[in-house]
Amino acid sequence: MAAAPGDVLYRASCANCHGADGRGADPALLAFEEEVPDFTDCDFAAREPDADWIAVAHEGGPVRGFSAMMPAFRGALTPEQLQRVMGYIRTLCTDSDWPRGELNLPRPLVTGKAYPEDEWVVSAGFPVEGTGGETTAEFVYEKRFGPRSQWEVAIPYQWRGGEDGGGRRGRLGEVEIGVKHAVFHSFESGSIVSVSGDLHFPAGSAPEAAEPGEEAQPSGSSVAGFLHFGQLLGGDSFLQGQAGARVPLYEGGRTRAYGRIVWGRSFASGQWGRSWTPMVEVVANRALGAEGAKTNTDVAPQLQIALNTRQHVLANVGVLVPVTAREGRHARLVAYVLLDWFDGGFWEGW
Ligand code: HEC
Repeated sequence: MAAAPGDVLYRASCANCHGADGRGADPALLAFEEEVPDFTDCDFAAREPDADWIAVAHEGGPVRGFSAMMPAFRGALTPEQLQRVMGYIRTLCTDSDWPRGELNLPRPLVTGKAYPEDEWVVSAGFPVEGTGGETTAEFVYEKRFGPRSQWEVAIPYQWRGGEDGGGRRGRLGEVEIGVKHAVFHSFESGSIVSVSGDLHFPAGSAPEAAEPGEEAQPSGSSVAGFLHFGQLLGGDSFLQGQAGARVPLYEGGRTRAYGRIVWGRSFASGQWGRSWTPMVEVVANRALGAEGAKTNTDVAPQLQIALNTRQHVLANVGVLVPVTAREGRHARLVAYVLLDWFDGGFWEGW
């Protein structure tokens, strides 16, 4: 048995419950109520990385917050044999258009990802120095459609502190609606490239009145286009980047160009445990065609951690530190909590 190929091991060890065809055995023949996943469903199977599936098969369902009806095979099959079983299970999804979950890299604080997502994200930013800075909150909903696409809506809210420490005024920021499409992905080379387009429009009842001594800025809707990439590097490290521009659709606005890059590395606590990912992000933007325009560059060290056992509820905390054009710009603490809702509800898998 030790040298048996993956399909033979699968039939001997997994097919009783998962079915000879990978769609799950007839429930009438199973003694438990839990639904058995369908390995032929690419929408489900392609997004799950091998490492998580091997962890589940080696340690049993509970290692990722699943049912103990999914037994642990650590006494029966070695990780190497389980890798061969996965090699076979991977052949059950026959449409290679679906990007593999390994290319779904950890979400940075600012840089947009290349991988299409099913996610809720709630984020907040606070000034940690100076006075009068803005406190921001944002609510993002992302939904995949088809093998490689996603649409999203983002709703920001902002509070500006009074210089005198007086009352904060809150307002709805610019709502964003966007679509993203992965134009290229390769599991073999560990790369994914996407393009996205967004529409931003002011949704508040009125644009914020200018602060005393400040000029009122024109505002209105704008459109943005971006190119995103993700690249796996050796040793669980990766690079992600995003570049593009936002073009105002109103008189007097300026086109702004954006460049963002992030490097990170994931670590697991123990061989099968939860992952945590330190990242360093560099984000820059600049108004185009404006005389004397400065490039605003920030560096953001940050740490993403899995909050629950299933690892589909994650948090990231970091600091955005201005490194160029620092006048009037302040360091900000930024954090998010995200739910990958395809993998279960917020309270599942803890
Ligand atoms: C006794 C029945 C049984 C056997 C045998 C079994 N499984 Fe499972 N498996 C389950 C059940 C039930 C679930 C669903 C658990 C849940 O959703 O809480 C599951 C879930 C899984 C998942 C998790 C998929 C996800 O949702 O991310 C993987 C991977 C898996 N099984 C792999 C295997 C492999 C590989 C084998 C053989 C080496 C195997 N299973 C053998 C019952 C079984």
